[in-house]
Amino acid sequence: MNKVLVIGSCGQIGTELIPELCRVFPDKEIFASDIKVIENNFFTGVPYVQLDVLDKASLRNFILNKKIDEVYLLAAILSATGEKNPELAWKLNMESLLSILDLGKEGVLKKIYWPSSIAVFGPNTPKIKTPQFTIMEPNTVYGISKLAGERWCAYYHEKFGVDVRSLRYPGLISYGSLPGGGTTDYAVDIFYQAKANLNYTCFLEENTSLPMMYMKDAVRATIELMKTDRKKLSVHSSYNLAGISFTPKDLFLEIKKHIPTFEIQYKADFRQQIADSWPDSIDDSYSVKEWFWKEEFTLEKMVKIMLENVDIKKMSNI
Ligand code: NAD
Ligand code: SER
Repeated sequence: MNKVLVIGSCGQIGTELIPELCRVFPDKEIFASDIKVIENNFFTGVPYVQLDVLDKASLRNFILNKKIDEVYLLAAILSATGEKNPELAWKLNMESLLSILDLGKEGVLKKIYWPSSIAVFGPNTPKIKTPQFTIMEPNTVYGISKLAGERWCAYYHEKFGVDVRSLRYPGLISYGSLPGGGTTDYAVDIFYQAKANLNYTCFLEENTSLPMMYMKDAVRATIELMKTDRKKLSVHSSYNLAGISFTPKDLFLEIKKHIPTFEIQYKADFRQQIADSWPDSIDDSYSVKEWFWKEEFTLEKMVKIMLENVDIKKMSNI
């Protein structure tokens, strides 16, 4: 039986990925872990362990003792928070990945998943339908750490045969848990304000187009990539992944169809500069060709589901 450890389980992706891993792989034993101390384990049927991924000795002991052979490494500091604490973002994002890759090199871990991001691209990258292979030059600490991480993944694959897989996620939208400090978080925050019958002040300008994706698509993409025969995969850094591209104004207008009284104002902050350095849209033809990626969720479908499901009690400032 495969034993799988998810690191950074309590975040926006982990909370949705874990139930889906349990559903799709009933033959695998899944363990959830995070630095957070939680009073009640909300992962039904999945043991939870409080673990700091930077505590190399404890991480290693846990993986060896439980005979873990597959890891999903989700712990990271995202773009906006990273700019406020660059040293910690670099340390967490890099050291966690290298510890896990080293366990792959030793042969302890047979398969690793580590997400990258559209943040690997920078102001000199072609913005429309950004190709898989292109100018990168990220200018945030988060983007630099993700690009370095991609190069480490390719290096460990090539030099040591490590099976590590990765996707460059767009901004992810979900209602299960709040996002963790990214530039694309506006596209989640807006639903809570709309549902609470409040107006929204957006921290990006109205015409800032960014690649986005509904979480169910991102989770399905992750699992489909992990299920693909390794021999079919040619990209060992990280695959481009496209969903839906939209601006704050597009999103506002779509929400307004459901809540006609909803209003928005725009007050750009430091995150505007980050957003301006990222692509408008992504060319994911390698994902389409090699592991048959196809997104399902349109802007209209995503907005309807979000409005039906966001729970305003989760919002700290309401
Ligand atoms: P998140 O911030 O919501 O969750 C990260 C989790 O890591 C948190 O629960 C946090 O407690 C945990 N963590 C932090 N430090 C830790 C440590 N030292 N040890 C163990 N756990 C620790 O992030 P997310 O949105 O779930 O993102 C997961 C991954 O996907 C990250 O690598 C992120 O860069 C990537 N990604 C996310 C998005 C997005 O829009 N959410 C987009 C692109 C890439
Ligand atoms: N959603 C993420 C962020 O904004 C992209 O990696 O940081």
